[in-house]
Amino acid sequence: MVTVRIPATSANLGPGFDCLGMALSIYNTISVELSDKLVIETIQSGTGVEENADNLIFQSFKKLYDSLGKPVPNVKIIQDVNIPISRGLGSSAACIVGGLFAANEMLGKPYSKSKLLELATEIEGHPDNVAPALLGGFVVSVRTDDGIRFLQNNISKNITLMAIIPDFRLSTKKSRGILPTSLDYKDAVHNVSRASLLTASLITGDLTNIKYAVEDKMHQPYRLDLINDGKKVFASAYENGASAVFLSGSGPTLMTIICDISTIDKVKNCCSKLSTNWDIKLLEADNTGA
Ligand code: HSE
Repeated sequence: MVTVRIPATSANLGPGFDCLGMALSIYNTISVELSDKLVIETIQSGTGVEENADNLIFQSFKKLYDSLGKPVPNVKIIQDVNIPISRGLGSSAACIVGGLFAANEMLGKPYSKSKLLELATEIEGHPDNVAPALLGGFVVSVRTDDGIRFLQNNISKNITLMAIIPDFRLSTKKSRGILPTSLDYKDAVHNVSRASLLTASLITGDLTNIKYAVEDKMHQPYRLDLINDGKKVFASAYENGASAVFLSGSGPTLMTIICDISTIDKVKNCCSKLSTNWDIKLLEADNTGA
């Protein structure tokens, strides 16, 4: 039996659309073993995860076998789901990375992590969630004509993150579908400069400018309109002491970085008052990956 634990992720981190992401301390665990027929079981029921051949873990598992021209065996997959689904926390990436990783282990590791990332990106469409799910830490991952080029960096465990998780699902398809098809030159310069500042901030651990580093004009202004009270909670987290606030992936979760930990309760309380049914989780970075 192969067992793999995969972290949640936060992609974009504000300005790094489709290229920046980090791994977080919430985990799904997937076990895969040979079986006489395909069986998929979910430990936390009621999640709405598919338990048939369309299941994303199985589809990803199959993709790796197919890529090697090997027949796909019947397997029993048990998934322990803790990453909230369709909340912008990398639940799909965890399934994809989990399925590919397990298949690679079962076949005696024919592929490097770099090749696994290529396959994962083909399934997901962009690398910014699958890269940190596989590698841990803060990952810059870029699609080039020569495949995915990436750099992984560990993140200080002293950075406190607070995820403010709405009580509804938002599909990436929907939140990509509302984005404009072109970008003003000034806005492009705005995002390139912020993404660079953010990368330098996270690599050096100097968060002095983090509030400016997470500013974005490419997707958040459009996507925040899809979240009832999203703009209110966003502003209120800043007013109550958060050092940085951004949309996690394509939303609807709002992620905050809290440098002054004496403000944690204040930020938490103001957000729970504004959005009573939303879940609030204190997290740290995961530097291990799958
Ligand atoms: N970069 C992706 C997006 C992350 O913002 O659409 C969500 O999968």
